Amino acid sequence: MTRGGSEARAPRIHPSILSADFTDLAAEVGRISSADAVHVDVMDNHFVPNLTLGLPVVERLAQVSPVPLDCHLMVEAPDRWAPAYAEAGASSVTFHAEAASAPVRLARELRRAGARAGLALNPATPVEPWFDLLGEVDMVLVMTVEPGFGGQSFLDVVLPKVRRLRGAISSAGLDVAVQVDGGVSVATIERAAEAGADVFVAGSAVYGAEDAAAAVAELRALAGAAGR
Ligand code: DX5
Ligand code: ZN
Repeated sequence: MTRGGSEARAPRIHPSILSADFTDLAAEVGRISSADAVHVDVMDNHFVPNLTLGLPVVERLAQVSPVPLDCHLMVEAPDRWAPAYAEAGASSVTFHAEAASAPVRLARELRRAGARAGLALNPATPVEPWFDLLGEVDMVLVMTVEPGFGGQSFLDVVLPKVRRLRGAISSAGLDVAVQVDGGVSVATIERAAEAGADVFVAGSAVYGAEDAAAAVAELRALAGAAGR
């Protein structure tokens, strides 16, 4: 199936270390060296009801990870906190639309610091108000679960938003990645790819597998076939 007017892009798989063993993160990133990046879920117990890790851990991960760091900040006041993640060496830094005060200024600051800028949207957050600003970001993360926890079920109700976003990016002729995050597995990744996503976060589907590299390869193959 082809996407409206756009070339299919190679799918990228970003395993989420939220489902990894937090006592052995260096080994856990080593298990996914065949992935395109590691997705690092930063939660502050305010924007979401869960607390994970912060800047010191990200700084250290940037030193030991065999793949780039894709930081997803589920935090209040990202205008204040996000730039330090770019400075720590994250290759992309994604902040939430619901939490940012000055998203354009923040995205520009992240890019200036050398990171790709990502904008995340919760399931109930509409994408249309952001259409004119798509040129300011490198990636839009469409949450396919309510943020806060790994292992939740994929929300198919979000797929029309993925499709409209991909359509807007194509018609504007922009190069913006569309990431889906939450409940992505062999059972759901094809639907997300078919709707126009090209970056896939998978926590439990990769870290819960015996062979993480095989899980990455299988997800990539399914997304590649479905996104064409
Ligand atoms: C949820 C996080 C996700 C989570 C995905 O708030 O943003 O990145 O780790 O985990 P799975 O793939 O298990 O749904
Ligand atoms: Zn995430």
